[in-house]
Amino acid sequence: MKNRLSRIIKPKDNRTVMLAVDHGYFMGPTSGLENIADTVNPLLPYADTLMLTRGALRNYIAPEIDIPIVLRVSGGTSILNENLLHEGIIASMEDAVRLNVSGVAFSIMVGAKYERDTLLAFSQVVDEAESLGIPVIAVTAVGKDMVRDARYMGLASRIAAEIGAHIVKTYYVEGFEKVVETCPVPVVIAGGKKTDEITALRTAFNAIEAGAVGVDMGRNIFQANNPEAMIQAVNAIVHDNHTPDEAYQILSKAKGSRFSK
Ligand code: 5RP
Repeated sequence: MKNRLSRIIKPKDNRTVMLAVDHGYFMGPTSGLENIADTVNPLLPYADTLMLTRGALRNYIAPEIDIPIVLRVSGGTSILNENLLHEGIIASMEDAVRLNVSGVAFSIMVGAKYERDTLLAFSQVVDEAESLGIPVIAVTAVGKDMVRDARYMGLASRIAAEIGAHIVKTYYVEGFEKVVETCPVPVVIAGGKKTDEITALRTAFNAIEAGAVGVDMGRNIFQANNPEAMIQAVNAIVHDNHTPDEAYQILSKAKGSRFSK
């Protein structure tokens, strides 16, 4: 368990840049992920882990590539379904082991109609993963109707940790310190919908300042004007304690950047 956790959260600084490209499990061919290999390969040198589905792993990521994998194991509904937030288990722990993953990720829907189902399925995943020494990342606060504030995030994150999550992935909100303080396991933030680059960098910075151990970011990296420069900028904030303005310089200096003056 510790060995796998240290492949996700780097022991040198207790931080992590997780690259999330699992969106296809409910969104299909997401913009920027039409061919995951083409998008992801240039970004891997700046990512600590890659979060994706088993189908994406099999079809797009060569087995020789040395990147710790966090496997998405919840799903079962799509953006076309009004019950989008009713996810169940979509990959067995046996397959996770066979794929040599460093962790698995499962979305819990606290406060949504199917809360109970997702929390019970999540606890089953924790039981199975624990017995094999595999860390479980709880993805919380998903769903467009959720009020995303520190009180809700704190509640969802704490419930995830109490059920057995080893890492919690949630969204940055004002008062995030409280969310981190009341969650006994490391917290990483999702990037959310694509915003302008400086906003995404500020969010990452604020989350780290508030005590998050890193990001599990997708669209704000792979849909950026220059994904390679963007992941380097995010990496500079997470691992090198750069300010958002300093990190933004990386984008400005990138070749052919629309940010250059
Ligand atoms: C939401 C998820 C995503 O599929 C993804 O990992 C989120 O990344 P981002 O919001 O940064 O694009 O976990 O359930």
